[in-house]
Amino acid sequence: MNGKTSDLSARSLERLPEENSGRSRMIPLSIPHLAGNEWSYIKESLDSGWVSSAGPFVDRFEREIARYTGAPHAVACASGTAALHIALLLAGVGPEDEVIVPTLTFVATINAVRYTGAYPLFMDCDDFYCLDAEKTLDFLTQETVSGEGGVRNKRTGRRIAGLMPVHVFGNAAALDLLSCTCRERGITVIEDAAESLGTVYTSGAFSGKHTGAIGELGCLSFNGNKIVTTGGGGMILTSNAAMAARAKYLTTQAKDDDLRFIHNEVGYNYRLTNLQAALGVAQLEQLPRFLETKAAHYAQYAEGLRNIRGLSLAPVPAYARNNHWLCSLRVNEGIYGCDRDALMRRLTACAIQSRPVWGLNHLQRPFAHCQAYRIERATELWQTTLSLPSSAGLKAEEIQAVIAALQQTT
Ligand SMILES: Cc1ncc(COP(=O)(O)O)c(C=O)c1O
Repeated sequence: MNGKTSDLSARSLERLPEENSGRSRMIPLSIPHLAGNEWSYIKESLDSGWVSSAGPFVDRFEREIARYTGAPHAVACASGTAALHIALLLAGVGPEDEVIVPTLTFVATINAVRYTGAYPLFMDCDDFYCLDAEKTLDFLTQETVSGEGGVRNKRTGRRIAGLMPVHVFGNAAALDLLSCTCRERGITVIEDAAESLGTVYTSGAFSGKHTGAIGELGCLSFNGNKIVTTGGGGMILTSNAAMAARAKYLTTQAKDDDLRFIHNEVGYNYRLTNLQAALGVAQLEQLPRFLETKAAHYAQYAEGLRNIRGLSLAPVPAYARNNHWLCSLRVNEGIYGCDRDALMRRLTACAIQSRPVWGLNHLQRPFAHCQAYRIERATELWQTTLSLPSSAGLKAEEIQAVIAALQQTT
């Protein structure tokens, strides 16, 4: 992994000014679609003088996200990473604890664990790129002991304080059994729903529930590459009123007396600004339309890939309505005739941006010393997966151009 490799967003957004000026015909991976009241709400925010980390749009954005997701409380943060960090602190995760995480996720999930002084314990993923529930249950049954003070990892002796399922690419993680087991054993579930705003379970124990609003704590991201953006931002979802109040306290420098500047704890400057929230409110108004468009994109890719031997669209779970945040394909090199990286180069030559899935985190230098449990499928998916252009503003003819480029290589 080279140090310059960045999140999907940075690279995607680099293209935005060029796109707008018409200088580039590159089809980008995932860029914002700013087609609603963005200008008008930002102007309103500027005109009101409320530009910083308090103001009516922050309150409104929190209320509207809570209403949309069904979470009783929503607390706006400066980023999804900040939201994850605070959520872990709220869950009581601290130094020398362990948190079960998938190895296949954006590095922010893992970094947030390390910010608390806890260690990640890496798990494999399932066919939908999400935490492998069966292996996680096997691990909890065979490799841990329960006693006073909670569940301990037999190998390290550390307490397993949390479990962080990630709804990768917008795919809902299979949580029915896991969340039950975690509740019984006193392990807090903190959902990383950074990519899954709009994804709702349609069957099983959580039918009708929005991803991120299942457990005590869930986190969203509004980074520039997400389905709804605030430029940069995040949200903590929680069913616990005391946790919501504490989240506000910790994200605003832990002010115990804001006139006399009294602080009884270490706090963080982690709140979303009113300007960013104005953007968020305008974007959220368009979410139902984005979801429809993205479902149509997925269907178009599925149809187009049907007859290309050796390529298949990554499946999505049947137990949820998916937000189709990022459509991805799997390359069977033996049948298709070239591997994932060669295909990516080919697409770049056709002015189409594509992207492999993140480098597996259990192999990254800062975490290589941490325990990884039977990682198999994640390695295979890492080698064969390529994400395709998926912006909400993508046109049908652009998807057709991607499909045509994929056909050419056969
Ligand atoms: C799975 C996942 N977790 C966490 C994050 C972090 O969110 P942010 O970039 O808003 O800090 C992201 C995206 O950026 C993500 O995709």
